[in-house]
Amino acid sequence: MAASKAQSFLITGANRGLGLEMVKQLVESRASTCRLFAACRDPDAPKSQALQDLAKKYPKVITVIQLDTTDPRSMKEAAMKVGAKLEGGGLNVLVNNAGVLPRGDLLHTSEQEFQMSMDTNLMGPVRVTKVGIRAELAEINQVFFTDEVVKPVLPWTDSLKTINKPNMKMH
Ligand SMILES: NC(=O)c1ccc[n+]([C@@H]2O[C@H](COP(=O)([O-])OP(=O)(O)OC[C@H]3O[C@@H](n4cnc5c(N)ncnc54)[C@H](OP(=O)(O)O)[C@@H]3O)[C@@H](O)[C@H]2O)c1
Repeated sequence: MAASKAQSFLITGANRGLGLEMVKQLVESRASTCRLFAACRDPDAPKSQALQDLAKKYPKVITVIQLDTTDPRSMKEAAMKVGAKLEGGGLNVLVNNAGVLPRGDLLHTSEQEFQMSMDTNLMGPVRVTKVGIRAELAEINQVFFTDEVVKPVLPWTDSLKTINKPNMKMH
């Protein structure tokens, strides 16, 4: 399915930055035809207020869900909520947008910060994609990664495509 025809989207890290902008642009261009799951790790925090305001404006289109891409339990619960809302329909597009950027240069970035960044930026998208497929949000057939760091593992994530979803496209 081409993204232009897709009707249901899940965007991670949707409370600010590029994620919030994607939600805004999708809702403004396709409010009557799409269903948006705007995922963020802390929906009730002040940093998520702009997203909550947007969701109030478009209550039939936007569902805000809690999802931390480093927390397996949070991901499973999110997948269950999305599945229930879709009532057997599929999720068409998954946008793996959540990411962190260590602030310092190499010498001033600790190993712990570097690991946290790898865990979020590399493993996060892989985990979310796997959970989505396992939860049988059946129609996920387009998966986007906004972070370049995921590209080296694309051949590996491609095995998901081969095993589970012959028609899935990864971008
Ligand atoms: N901006 C650019 O020029 C650029 C260029 C290339 C790639 N990218 C990639 O594009 C993505 C978005 O960039 P951005 O500039 O919009 O970044 P941003 O403004 O820093 O926003 C990052 C988003 O990711 C969320 N996030 C971080 N860790 C998370 C986790 N464990 N679980 C769930 N959400 C988490 C943040 O949530 P909180 O509010 O809770 O922190 C926030 O919503 C990132 O993956 C980035 O690497 C950006």
